[in-house]
Amino acid sequence: MSLLIYGAYGYTGQLITERAVEQGLSPVVAGRDAEKVHAIAERYDLEGRVFGLDVPARIRDGLDGIDVVLHCAGPFIHTSAPMLQACIDTGTHYLDITGEIDVFEAAAHRDAEATSAGIMVCPGVGFDVVPTDCVAKHLSEALPDATTLEIAFMGLGQVSRGTALTAVSNLGEGGKVRRDGQIVTVPPAWATREVDFGRGPKTVVSIPWGDVSTGYHSTGIPNITAYTYLPERAITLLRLSRYVSWLLQWEPVKKLLEALVRMQPAGPDESQRKEGVTLVWGRATNDAGDEVSARLTGPEGYTFTARTAVAAAQHVLDGGATPGFQTPSTAFGAHFVRHFDGVDMVDVPVRS
Ligand SMILES: NC(=O)c1ccc[n+]([C@@H]2O[C@H](COP(=O)([O-])OP(=O)(O)OC[C@H]3O[C@@H](n4cnc5c(N)ncnc54)[C@H](OP(=O)(O)O)[C@@H]3O)[C@@H](O)[C@H]2O)c1
Repeated sequence: MSLLIYGAYGYTGQLITERAVEQGLSPVVAGRDAEKVHAIAERYDLEGRVFGLDVPARIRDGLDGIDVVLHCAGPFIHTSAPMLQACIDTGTHYLDITGEIDVFEAAAHRDAEATSAGIMVCPGVGFDVVPTDCVAKHLSEALPDATTLEIAFMGLGQVSRGTALTAVSNLGEGGKVRRDGQIVTVPPAWATREVDFGRGPKTVVSIPWGDVSTGYHSTGIPNITAYTYLPERAITLLRLSRYVSWLLQWEPVKKLLEALVRMQPAGPDESQRKEGVTLVWGRATNDAGDEVSARLTGPEGYTFTARTAVAAAQHVLDGGATPGFQTPSTAFGAHFVRHFDGVDMVDVPVRS
């Protein structure tokens, strides 16, 4: 079975390629820029393929002989659909590292087509959403009649340029939560609450994180809110953004913000990745008021992403694909996340 990493020369794509090679894989590396594809192919002595995502026939040709795509080129709202279509057309398993709700939902809508093509479609095999999705699934297994899921994360580290550009592309769209099974739009920073990630209480703020989509597909829990830790000043700014959402969606403002983001470093350097930590907290509650809670500590987000994405690809290469739309926890189980160095998931005692 053969693996193709698309967007292999991006910041995260490079980390994933390096990890894949360390793990003994020989992926084909691909992207739209010939010079950058050839450079990474040469660095790791891999086959390189150059193709963009604008012409369907070119993507299909690019997937010739490939069994699994690990798509790392984002923002995925612009890149996922053409690659997914080519995967369905060519019978190629599709994995990506998105965290974007609309991308998960679009992939979920293609479940029947993916099933009849015999392929697995599993977006979100990076830090978004492997640890949070595994915590969600673990909680729902502990409390099968849960009706509410709250999930929070905190990254003690930097974000990459690509992550920031993806955030800019989604600016002004408000918050999103799931209520009674439906994804609904709410104001930015709609809810705050205090959680303990194991290092004392922190105020977290609701954000439109991928779990609002995936948590439901993984667990069936109909009410989901995802939170992250942000400094108080950032929460205030997020609240103020409610009054200027039209401005944030205005193309010239987005272009300006993108230009500012492009002046930042590509992503955290090696020492920052070594020092960084991610923390996850989750709680599920049923209508009787019973609750279960768990928390997880893990490596820095981009290191985490490289490890989980390559392990997911390896799983599929080993014949472990389940056809149709999958989330990380439906594809690989609630305990998938426990297998990575530096990950510790523990139950938190609560009232019941
Ligand atoms: N799941 C997670 O936890 C996780 C972790 C890390 C990153 N991400 C997401 O992954 C994406 C990449 O992040 P990054 O830090 O690697 O960003 P990056 O360094 O900016 O790399 C982006 C990559 O995507 C390619 N790309 C962008 N638009 C494209 C298009 N229309 N067609 C073909 N290729 C395109 C770029 O190619 P060019 O240079 O040719 O434009 C580049 O290879 C972002 O959306 C980010 O949010 C998710």
